[in-house]
Order: sequence, then C-alpha cells, then structure tokens
Amino acid sequence: MRHLMSPLDFTVEELNQLLDLAGDIEANPDKYAHACDGKKLATLFYEPSTRTRLSHEAAMLNLGGSILGFSSAESSSATKGESVADTIRMISCYADICAMRHPKEGSALVAKEHSSIPVINAGDGGHQHPTQTLTDLLTIRSLKGRLDHMKIGLCGDLKFGRTVHSLIHALVRYPGIEFVLISPEELRLPGYIRHDVLDNNQIPYEEVVRLEDALPMLDLLYMTRVQKERFFNEEDYVRMKDFYILDSKKMELAGPDMLVLHPLPRVNEISVEVDKDSRAAYFKQVQYGVYVRMALILTLLEIEV
Ligand code: NCD
Repeated sequence: MRHLMSPLDFTVEELNQLLDLAGDIEANPDKYAHACDGKKLATLFYEPSTRTRLSHEAAMLNLGGSILGFSSAESSSATKGESVADTIRMISCYADICAMRHPKEGSALVAKEHSSIPVINAGDGGHQHPTQTLTDLLTIRSLKGRLDHMKIGLCGDLKFGRTVHSLIHALVRYPGIEFVLISPEELRLPGYIRHDVLDNNQIPYEEVVRLEDALPMLDLLYMTRVQKERFFNEEDYVRMKDFYILDSKKMELAGPDMLVLHPLPRVNEISVEVDKDSRAAYFKQVQYGVYVRMALILTLLEIEV
C-alpha cells in the first residue's frame, strides 16, 4: 500500500505521471466524475486549515466519493487523550483513504505505521507538506511549461515554513534549478536542509535579506507567511511578521514573466494591489490544488480511469 509522507515518496517519473493525470482531469473532468463512487475519504485535521482540508474534500467529491472527518483536535477524541495510533486504527474501519494534519513533526509517519488505508500527510508541524508541493509543481509546470532551469526565490519564514521544505526537496531533482533564499537572519532555512539537501546535491543558492536585491533575477517568487503558531514568543512574531511586504512598486523590479506563488493564507506579505498583476498566480494555484489531489487520490487508491 502507498502513502504520501514526503514528495520524495514519488520518483520524478511517477511525479510527472501524476501531473499528467492532473492535467487530464483538468481537461476532461466528466471522465473522472464517478471514478471513486462508493469510496470514502477521511480528513483528520488536528490543526487549522481552510484550503488543504477543503481541497482534499472537494477532490474526493469531484470523483464521486464521499467524505467524513474532523477539523480540529478539540472536536476529536484527542482531547480525551486518544493517540494518533489508536485513532488511525479506527479510521481504517470507516474510510478507504485519509488525509491527516497534525502540529507534531513525524505524526504522519506514526499514522502510516498503524494504518491499513493510504495516509496522506497534509502537514506535520514545521516539517513537510507534500500535497502543497504537488500543487506548486503542477502550477509551475502549467504556467511556466517546465520544472527545470529556473531561478527560484523563496521568501519569508524559511525556518518553520513546511511548504518551502517540501518544495526544495522536490525541485532539486530537476536540472538547472537555483535558489535565492530570502529571509531575515532569524528565519533562515534550517541547516539540515541547507546542507543535506542543497549542498549535498550541489544546488547553487544564495542567501539574501532584502527582497529588492533578489527580485530582478528571479523566474519565480514563492512568498510565505511568518508561521505565528510555531513561534515561542509573541514579541519575536510581532517583530518579524511584516518584514516582507510585496507591493506593486517592488513588482516593478521583477521581470515580465516572474510568477508569484504563495501557498496561502496570506497575511500582510503580499499587498492586495498585487492580486491584479498578471504575474500573481496564487489564486490559480488553489485551483490546481484540487486537480492534483484528485490525481493523488486515484493514484493511491490504484484506480485507473
Ligand atoms: C500552508 C501550511 O499549512 O503549511 N497552508 C496551506 O496548507 N496552504 C502555509 C501556511 O499556513 O502558511
């Protein structure tokens, strides 16, 4: 049985097949409308979410299946002290596949160990968020036409931002990828990713503090929110939260084809005036997230259409 814990669970070839399938779903939605008739997806969300939970649910509904689940730890037996291991054993009796988000790093792995249905990691603490990465890859491939030979700026909370961690793991497998890591000193990319993933794969990267310095050289800018819930104290968060604000004036420094992505939710890091810029792709990204999760559910359930 297959699960999705990290984007590396798929080879590059398997990823390409998954993105192709998502592309076919986009072009021919009717063909897939009953592919999951009679199947159930459980969403186990111990942490807040809007897009990730609802897009998994929309994906299953679009495939003709049904959904069940909980959207906060408070409304589940976690408050009574039930372990993830016990919860997942039960969910395996209720559903055919599940997506789980949890504040603790490694929790999805625990779920996988005790599950008899495929488990999708929908975010485990500050660690990984592989379905956001699938969404990002589909968005980039659809709008740029390629996943290789690009200079990519990752901006904001590179320390706690799990979407950035997963995206780096996935992209270093394509040729000609270079990164510009844009963050304040306190929110730099963790050493274990810089060394183990970037240095060990000989990926060129530079670290800068000023967004203005990076903008003119980028093919793609991936903005992120400062991850308030992972800070140890409020003052540090308040000091960091408005460190970057991408506005129309800064967008003038960027090239005409530089795409702006953001996993959302946005707080202040992209000013709303940028939304009407043709290079702003973060709302299109949301739509791609549904197609790619439809493709993922079909792949993990081994359903061929
Ligand atoms: C991201 C997450 O949960 O890590 N959100 C999402 O799933 N699209 C990014 C974030 O919360 O900042």
